[in-house]
Amino acid sequence: MTATHPAPNATGRPHWSSRMMFVFAASGSAVGLGNIWKFPYIVGENGGGAFVLLYLACLIGLGAPLLIGEVMVGRRGGAYPASAFVNVARSTGLSAAWGGLGALGALIAILILSFYSVVSGWVGIYTVDFAIAALGGDAARSGAEAFSAMLADPVLQLTAVAAIVIAAGIVVYYDVTIGVQSVMRYVAPLFAILLVAMLVMIATTTDTFWQAVVYMFRPDFSALSFDAFGEALGHAFFTLSVGMCGMLIYGAYLDDAANVPRLGIGVAAIDTGIAIAAALIIFPIVFAFDLESAAGPGLLFIALPQGFTLLPFGNLFGLSFFAATLLAAFTSLIALMIIASHWLSETLRTSNRTASLIAASLTGIGGATVTLSLNLWDNLTILGFGLLDFFDELTSAWLLPLSGLGMAIFVSRAIVPGLPDGLVKTYLNICLTYLAPIGILVFVYSKTVGF
Ligand code: PHE
Repeated sequence: MTATHPAPNATGRPHWSSRMMFVFAASGSAVGLGNIWKFPYIVGENGGGAFVLLYLACLIGLGAPLLIGEVMVGRRGGAYPASAFVNVARSTGLSAAWGGLGALGALIAILILSFYSVVSGWVGIYTVDFAIAALGGDAARSGAEAFSAMLADPVLQLTAVAAIVIAAGIVVYYDVTIGVQSVMRYVAPLFAILLVAMLVMIATTTDTFWQAVVYMFRPDFSALSFDAFGEALGHAFFTLSVGMCGMLIYGAYLDDAANVPRLGIGVAAIDTGIAIAAALIIFPIVFAFDLESAAGPGLLFIALPQGFTLLPFGNLFGLSFFAATLLAAFTSLIALMIIASHWLSETLRTSNRTASLIAASLTGIGGATVTLSLNLWDNLTILGFGLLDFFDELTSAWLLPLSGLGMAIFVSRAIVPGLPDGLVKTYLNICLTYLAPIGILVFVYSKTVGF
């Protein structure tokens, strides 16, 4: 891989309109299906509080430092994943082979897009259904049968995938400073309003809110397995959008004087706060109506809609919930497509606009294949897994921890030594130089040899 994009120079490079805009955009990337769909169901599957603690440890010890590091690589090396690593490596005397991390990150993003687009499509379908129900039309989809009926319907799902991928593709076509900024300006406040309104509604209409708080925060370590460690670690990277160069790209548009550690910790805190808030909206409903808390991926689409239909103003509640989830999924889909398009642009040496069209087409093809594997092509499996599960497992349980390790080592060698002495340097040094390799080796060991 050769680097064709020069390092950005401080004067000519496009910037976020404000640092707040960076926080909006990076949070828009981080907050997504990972927070609202995955986090609550993996907490449910792993028995609650102890898993939450483990996840927070992975987040503080590995996820957040890597986020800060990735943003710093982008700011120094530019917005093109492979060239960014090559530029920073060259300026610090390291091998240009580190550019491979950019390609690996982009590959992971492209694989994730194939199922992320499908699940985002489901969220779109549920949003439309709850909107129709709220307006007095047919009852919204709820329960296992309705979910299976949707999975069996290729046309409905393909339409949803096409709609969301085209909409995201238009934003990616206008790139970061125009596309992402225009969207986040409206989405960030709207999402915040919906979330707070739902928390207030849930705390006042159910009497199981405190039960959910206890469930989330009282650890029961007997419910934890070693597999949970892998899941917590992979999820810490996934939810913060690190290890895939997403934060690197957004970091490239930051001005040189910005305080990256402070901004990075702010983004990690927002992401964690929203994951916990989502769980505190979902679990009171699950407990109030005795639904299955360990329902797995179906928690959001099967159990929860059943709960909504039993609540006062349930259709309105369901509409707010799925609309907020759709916004979160949409801005993450944009961030993932931006990774793909920037990498395609540098690798195929095309303009960003052409690359954005290729990225959108690839996402559409991946999404359509995964969709069809759920119905018409349901004998299409890899190693016995359905495609959706396979891509999810392959990326978050295997590739992501690996690329995270690589990036942690790179940042500890290329970026950390140049930082001024102080708390930030010590924190990054401890986490990235020592904790990250140990943590991820333990992870690989537990996955391969087992405990
Ligand atoms: N962080 C997003 C989520 O939790 C997923 C994502 C990963 C988005 C990488 C962009 C880049 O859903």
